[in-house]
Amino acid sequence: MTGRRPFVVAIDGPAASGKGTLARRLAKRFGLAHLDSGKLYRATALLVLREDGDPADPGVATAAARRVSPAVLGDPLLSSEAVARASSILSALPAVRAELLATQRDFAAHPPALAHSGTPRGAVIDGRDIGTVVCPDAAVKLFVTASPEARAERRAKELREGGAAAIYEDVLQDMKERDARDSGRRVAPLAAAPDAITIDTTGLDADQVFEQASDIIARALAADGR
Ligand code: CDP
Repeated sequence: MTGRRPFVVAIDGPAASGKGTLARRLAKRFGLAHLDSGKLYRATALLVLREDGDPADPGVATAAARRVSPAVLGDPLLSSEAVARASSILSALPAVRAELLATQRDFAAHPPALAHSGTPRGAVIDGRDIGTVVCPDAAVKLFVTASPEARAERRAKELREGGAAAIYEDVLQDMKERDARDSGRRVAPLAAAPDAITIDTTGLDADQVFEQASDIIARALAADGR
């Protein structure tokens, strides 16, 4: 480590835009730590649902946010649609967001060591408000998006591959509701930062998106002398 500030890549975008897969691959290619911030909200939601709590109740949801642990973050139920829906509801609560903000900022400031290559030179964090609120000083900001139809198709396929029954129309409807909630909330809504580069992935496959984003990051690293 040179003692320089960690190199942070912020990736934001709506559900099933492909930002999660992209973030994971970019982190691997550039030797950066990866945080899927959505998992923090999903883990909070899972804790609430497990206790039959109401995700819209600030007291219940904030207490759950405080109890997020590595064990919950690894629970396979995190990817269920019930958890996705509940996470989108509780993520509109300012107290929940405040509770999870510290964890995310801490990750950006002190990216955890990688399994085989020691301390990373930075981090890739994906979510809804990383470039706007969590890491407004990120070295690279990407906004990854796609049409609701393309995203619903991807999500339905993902769910079916995971063994769940998924009807495209239902997934599309859910997706539109979640988009409206994520974009319409007062605190940290889903939005592209003014200095973000938007990648519309509607007609692109995962490899094409990965190459575009890799070029952007490679250029930023070079400009930064890293
Ligand atoms: O994978 P998908 O894009 O469907 O969702 P996710 O990234 O796992 O996020 C689940 C929910 O958490 C979203 O619907 C958002 O409401 C919320 N979230 C947020 O508010 N802020 C973030 N930085 C990340 C997720």
